[in-house]
Amino acid sequence: MTSPARVLVAEELRYFLEGTTVPEDIDPTVLGAGDPVPEGPYVGLLPLLVRTVGAEEMDRLPQLRVIANYGVGYDNVDLAAARARGIGVSNTPGALTMATAEMTWALILAAARRLPEGERLARSGTWAGWHPTQLVGMGLDGRTLGVVGAGRIGTEVGLRARAFDMGVLYWSRGRNRVLERGAGARRVELDELLAAADVVSLHVALTPETAGLIDAAALDAMKPGAILVNTARGAVVDEAALVPALASGRLRAAALDVYDDEPRIPAALRGLDNVVLMPHLGSATERARAGMWEIAWENLLRGVRLQRLRDPVTERGPGTAEAGEGA
Ligand code: DGY
Repeated sequence: MTSPARVLVAEELRYFLEGTTVPEDIDPTVLGAGDPVPEGPYVGLLPLLVRTVGAEEMDRLPQLRVIANYGVGYDNVDLAAARARGIGVSNTPGALTMATAEMTWALILAAARRLPEGERLARSGTWAGWHPTQLVGMGLDGRTLGVVGAGRIGTEVGLRARAFDMGVLYWSRGRNRVLERGAGARRVELDELLAAADVVSLHVALTPETAGLIDAAALDAMKPGAILVNTARGAVVDEAALVPALASGRLRAAALDVYDDEPRIPAALRGLDNVVLMPHLGSATERARAGMWEIAWENLLRGVRLQRLRDPVTERGPGTAEAGEGA
């Protein structure tokens, strides 16, 4: 009898691993959060999206067949290095679409209606009572939502704009008829979207093309008084350029769930009242996190057994139904 295939699974996923019936042909080892990838005869790796898996890590695992990333984003994995070594890479599309779309709307509402500022005031014990000009925000009805990246998550965010009586513009590699039919959305160039949208919401994957997409010039091109929401990846936005745009009031507000150098959040951003800050919680629902596990585990098993991956990704993007997936 051949010995079971050895796989490494991120320690933070122990809860899910312990609730899973591990087949006899698989032998999992838990990989400690702070531990480097060990050298060894492992054929599968199931890492979190916060672990960098580059050429160096892959070289320590010469028998590796699959990297089944726990996340829809896979910018932590060096895809070219994986391809060069014949290692398959997969992600977890679909499982977190609704959770992230919901979080995006929570952030849009929080920024537009100044919920964190109101909450801070209510808790402070200094609230002096109702006042007609106190913490007045932006009403959403009749405004325009700009969806940057119309993959699964961007699509669901755009579709929900109907409920708030908002128009929708989107920027995407291809046409998105679901969004056009469901939300009356119109596909435009990025500069047109930035100039017209009252709320710009980012849903592109982080790639060399999208890194720094929302730089100083893009922020400057945004409509005065607009709101920027980022539930994709921090590096899509130039954080240093965002600070003065918010501090000067040129942008009304920003709401961020992701940062360039997580878990570091620049002090200058933390010091601003008109930014809503969340600690990367877009997919943090019970259903989404369990679904991500199921998908990642299935991809791990398939990769180890040299079967076709359920959700392969390459430098060109996800191999499944929809391209343009946001994170
Ligand atoms: C992902 O899966 O890429 C998300 O960022 C997790 O919330």
